[in-house]
Amino acid sequence: MDPKVNTKVILASRPTGYPTEEDFLIVESEIPSLKEGELIVKIDWLSLDPYMRGRMNDARSYAPSVEVGDVMVGGAVGTVVESRTPLFSVDEVVEGNFGWQSYALSSGVGLRRVNPLLGPVRSSIGILGMPGLTAYFGLLDVCQPLAGDTVVISAASGAVGQVVGQIAKIMGCTVIGTAGTDEKVRYIVDELGFDVGINYKNENVGNSLDSACPNGIDIYFDNVGGFVTDEVIKRINTGARIAICGQISQYNLREPELGPRNLFHLTKSQAKMQGFLVFAYEAQYDKALNRISKWIKAGKLKYREDIVEGISNAPKTFIGMLQGENLGKTLIKVS
Ligand SMILES: NC(=O)c1ccc[n+]([C@@H]2O[C@H](COP(=O)([O-])OP(=O)(O)OC[C@H]3O[C@@H](n4cnc5c(N)ncnc54)[C@H](OP(=O)(O)O)[C@@H]3O)[C@@H](O)[C@H]2O)c1
Repeated sequence: MDPKVNTKVILASRPTGYPTEEDFLIVESEIPSLKEGELIVKIDWLSLDPYMRGRMNDARSYAPSVEVGDVMVGGAVGTVVESRTPLFSVDEVVEGNFGWQSYALSSGVGLRRVNPLLGPVRSSIGILGMPGLTAYFGLLDVCQPLAGDTVVISAASGAVGQVVGQIAKIMGCTVIGTAGTDEKVRYIVDELGFDVGINYKNENVGNSLDSACPNGIDIYFDNVGGFVTDEVIKRINTGARIAICGQISQYNLREPELGPRNLFHLTKSQAKMQGFLVFAYEAQYDKALNRISKWIKAGKLKYREDIVEGISNAPKTFIGMLQGENLGKTLIKVS
């Protein structure tokens, strides 16, 4: 095979607060020739996700940090272009943690073969991948929705939130979403069928929740934390379920915020609050993906993708996503 140039985005420095483009460096290198037991994937689509902000820190977490000088971590989907392993053949489409780069060298271990019959291959890192599965298990397993429940979702127009709200509607719930622009609020109500959308940046969230949830809140799917979460917790019902999916309002703070201090509401309501990681459900992914795919094909699940072309645009697109510039799942079209 002719030598290929790999364009990579590496971590140049650890940010404090919001990352800047200077925290990343774009470099090119030649892909070494394959050894026995290896394969090369040409990356087609890269997923940009909030968890990557945590990997830029030098802090203990559920997964190791990216070292300064290393390729940024990230899920991606691509095509096998060369293989010296029996695990995958040339032309197969695979999804894995390939990082922010245009080609990836892999042993094939841990890669997932993408089933093109389920949906477009790029959705294997979106609604038919990690974010969609997060919505599915976080809502159905952690929150156990019942028909008639009132469900509130924060960051409701994003990759995870847009799916949570629609699955909750399928389950017969009343669904309220919070989001940061009027366009996002219109999207979740007019296109996705949420019952109410609240713009947390220009409405009084407490008052809006009072009018949207006159009978209180049974389920809260929390993607953001901070003051939105404070207002929701004040309004939970007896037996409420709260899934702590993410806390994006905290990821870019220079100093951690104090709180939460209102957890006695959980005592009074005998409520359950549970954090979860989607990876714990890996053994059940196939069944969930089939179900999600059927809902999409039946027109019950819609989704938006926010697509930007070119691996070199990944840093500014990632920074924009952390600041709410995306609508739907943020993807980079690599090739
Ligand atoms: N537990 C798991 O296994 C798991 C897996 C995947 C994702 N997650 C978490 O799920 C959450 C959503 O992820 P995603 O991929 O779907 O991202 P996303 O919603 O597509 O994008 C992030 C959104 O967060 C919102 N946001 C940013 N800063 C905020 C702030 N200070 N307060 C409130 N909202 C803010 C922005 O929307 P607005 O314009 O609405 O502010 C932005 O568009 C994240 O917290 C992520 O870490 C967890």
